[in-house]
Amino acid sequence: MRKITIAIDGYSSTGKSTIAKQLAKALNYIYVDTGAMYRAVTLYALEKSYVGENENLEGLVQDLPNIHLKFVPNADLGISEMYLNGQNVEKEIRTMRVSGQVSKVATIPEVRHKLVEMQQRMGVEKGIVMDGRDIGTVVFPNAELKIFMTASPEARATRRYKELLDRGEEVTYEAVLENVQKRDYIDSTRETSPLRKADDSIEFDNSDMGLEEQFERILNFAQRVILKK
Ligand code: DC
Repeated sequence: MRKITIAIDGYSSTGKSTIAKQLAKALNYIYVDTGAMYRAVTLYALEKSYVGENENLEGLVQDLPNIHLKFVPNADLGISEMYLNGQNVEKEIRTMRVSGQVSKVATIPEVRHKLVEMQQRMGVEKGIVMDGRDIGTVVFPNAELKIFMTASPEARATRRYKELLDRGEEVTYEAVLENVQKRDYIDSTRETSPLRKADDSIEFDNSDMGLEEQFERILNFAQRVILKK
């Protein structure tokens, strides 16, 4: 069966990664969470104080060659985990500390350039499901299937809030909603590859849709494209 490239873009906390992971598993494709890559660069920037109080984005750009990212499969969990310079940072990159700075780091053209190149290399052989903000527009403009996920800010903040509570973070719903809205704004108004729906992508609003239904519908889109000559 022919292998295709599947691009899943959309606003933060729309459940892109959950669906992308399930889809990759069902099709036996590779799954790449590009948000994890921007988050890992942000964690590095926080550790080296390039972001925060005495912001030094130029310093971060100079230091980019020293940032080595790798996805390492975890057989027990059945997923790949993000490693930053040899260290598993899967937990640290999902904290609010990182979420608070990641959109800013993702506006830096040199950061995007480095990560987009890596992403394109990962996808040369197709058979990949990649989720992010610019996958259908910039990374793989020729992807055979493009999905653009949306949901209301409130639905997304509720999901993210529950996730963070489950992980033991002390946050308020209001702070999470504010972060979601702020990231929407920065992600869609930045100059370099802003978040926007590719003309040929399928818009998928899942505000009122359960996971099972979403997965079935999207798997169905994929199967139709794969079987199309
Ligand atoms: O998908 P996520 O919420 O983990 O992504 C974190 C941030 O990274 C998001 O606010 C915007 C940025 N991002 C991006 O600019 N381009 C991508 N392809 C993926 C993420």
